[in-house]
Amino acid sequence: MILTCLILLYYEAVITQHTIQQILSRIDIIDIVGSFVKLKKRGTNYLGLCPFHNEKTPSFTVSPAKEIYKCFGCGKSGNSISFLMEHEKYSYVEALKWLAARYNVEVEETEVSPAVKELQQTADSLYIINSFAQKFFSDNLWNNEEGRDIGLSYLHERGFQEDIIQKFQIGYCSRDWNAFATAATTAQYNPEYLLKTGLVVLRDEKLTDNYRGRIIFPVHNQTGKIIGFGARIIGKNDRAPKYINTPENEIYVKSRILYGSYFARQAIDKADECLLVEGYTDVVSLHQAGIENVVASGGTSLTPDQLRLIKKYTNNLTIIYDGDAAGIKAALRGLDLALEEGLNVQLVLIPDKEDPDSYVRKTGAAAFREFIEGNKKDIVLFQLEVSLKDAGNDLNKKSAIVNRIAETISRLNKAEDFTKQQDYIRQCAALLSIDEEGLNALVNKFIRERIAKQENKAAASEEKNKEEASADTASQENEDILDLISKDELVERNMTRALLEFGNYSWDEQQNVARHIFFELDHYGLQELIDNKQLLHIIDTYRKWVDEGITPTPKSFLYHEDMAISTVAVGLMDTRYELSQNWKEHYDGPMPTREELYKEEVASTLTYLKIRKIKRLIIENQRDLEQADSPEDQLNLLQTHQHLKQMEIELIRDYGTVIYK
Ligand code: UTP
Ligand code: MN
Repeated sequence: MILTCLILLYYEAVITQHTIQQILSRIDIIDIVGSFVKLKKRGTNYLGLCPFHNEKTPSFTVSPAKEIYKCFGCGKSGNSISFLMEHEKYSYVEALKWLAARYNVEVEETEVSPAVKELQQTADSLYIINSFAQKFFSDNLWNNEEGRDIGLSYLHERGFQEDIIQKFQIGYCSRDWNAFATAATTAQYNPEYLLKTGLVVLRDEKLTDNYRGRIIFPVHNQTGKIIGFGARIIGKNDRAPKYINTPENEIYVKSRILYGSYFARQAIDKADECLLVEGYTDVVSLHQAGIENVVASGGTSLTPDQLRLIKKYTNNLTIIYDGDAAGIKAALRGLDLALEEGLNVQLVLIPDKEDPDSYVRKTGAAAFREFIEGNKKDIVLFQLEVSLKDAGNDLNKKSAIVNRIAETISRLNKAEDFTKQQDYIRQCAALLSIDEEGLNALVNKFIRERIAKQENKAAASEEKNKEEASADTASQENEDILDLISKDELVERNMTRALLEFGNYSWDEQQNVARHIFFELDHYGLQELIDNKQLLHIIDTYRKWVDEGITPTPKSFLYHEDMAISTVAVGLMDTRYELSQNWKEHYDGPMPTREELYKEEVASTLTYLKIRKIKRLIIENQRDLEQADSPEDQLNLLQTHQHLKQMEIELIRDYGTVIYK
């Protein structure tokens, strides 16, 4: 993780805080959103057709006062920066640079820190060593007796031609204990870096070759530099791994590597399609057969970084895996992610325990191409067919499948995917023999839920696990629990929003709202009741600023450099208000504004948290009661129970009269 961050730093320049402040002070959300979406003024807001989903009547609203946008159709919301990030697919830094150019702000970048400088130097050293190693191993393969007898003849036996071996710079590492280590130290390479590349290891405190007796496949990055190696054993050996791969280091980050991408770029561009296979030899063989738009994932399921890399070249991904269960599973695991990235994903299964390498050899290039073209299956429909076959007549399983497929389809939520989404809904409803409208509604539910959840990015992966775990057992009980959770969550959000919005307002003569909230949270131990980590993060950030003598405003959070914070803040600020029935029943006259009611709002959210605290204490007390042995203990605990119950009743009465839902 730390490594990845450092590598990001390595590539992305660091913009100074001064520049960021200058940019933020000039932001005009109407101007920014307006350069991509046609906006019309409606009252204090602006309205247009939502760029994030397909619609005929405008429900995309931009508020210049709040500096946020919100679509009432799909629920997407955010500020100027997140708009650029979503709409233009910019990174945070790219969005800032776009804004800087637009508002003529000169961008100052910080000097690279010593840590970054060191990282760059290490990376450069690793590239140099890898390049030296590649030449050494290639030379071994072609010009050394052992290399030719063992390495080259193995490659020949497998049918690899010399031009293709040279193109991929394949080599051979001799069986000698330290032929490479000696050559590298003689050439003055630093042992520390040599160890980092994984080319050598320490054995009895001596540098020893790690890839002895293996075929060496160099792994290139997009620009053709060698970042690592895959070393294949010759023949079979149950006691040694088939491949040894480079360990993660400053330049070899497994989750970002697609083997062959350097050689495939142009072909992918031309074909507007990327073929994905599992292994090194699959890539090399297909190239030899003239099929060059191919990359390998290394046999694991695709990572977001790999998908993004593919997406840079094409929208069409064809996964070609062996027909075995493990391969298919790996392919399906990356599916939702791929759909979210807007990729068209097709699957081709190679029959008869073959892999693409052996199959193309067996059938020849032309037949292989034909096979691929004739056997592409849409991966969503494929997934549905497989799981339907698996479920048989089991109704529970079938309903889980409906949920799962609706969730998958809901991932296709970009405007340009709208037709595709509708196609899927039609085809899947038919396969499932269920009502199309019903499936449509379910898909929409998942879209709404996810948009709500995006505000809570860090918790997202956790939630996904939860969702998956509960999908099979979804029942009324679960629904009820979910309702409850969301109610708690709503109050937590309301409290945090009140803090952001009204923190600086006065509570009484002595203190402002923020201080009052913090006092209550601490005094009654309420903060521990807040489950949402993002909200806690906001509350703690607020506290920290107050402690440092800074007065935070909503803007401090809306444009916080930590996108996790700003996204949550945007979500909080645009929550709609409804006055509860109580208001209409108890009061006459004009509706009060929120500004006028802020004290009630603060009080009511705090009361709700207190009710939750009491409920928790009651449950704990009951647990003690069940375990109490002596009559005195039992009596004591019963009295406590009654006391707590009384408090609960009073609090609930308080809460019932407040005028916000
Ligand atoms: P395979 O076992 O299918 O190997 O693993 P392969 O690529 O077809 O190789 P040959 O044809 O038997 O020579 C697929 C991929 O999984 C990774 C490698 O990237 C390999 O290409 N792998 C496999 C490893 O990293 N380590 C291993 O021990 C095995
Ligand atoms: Mn193989």
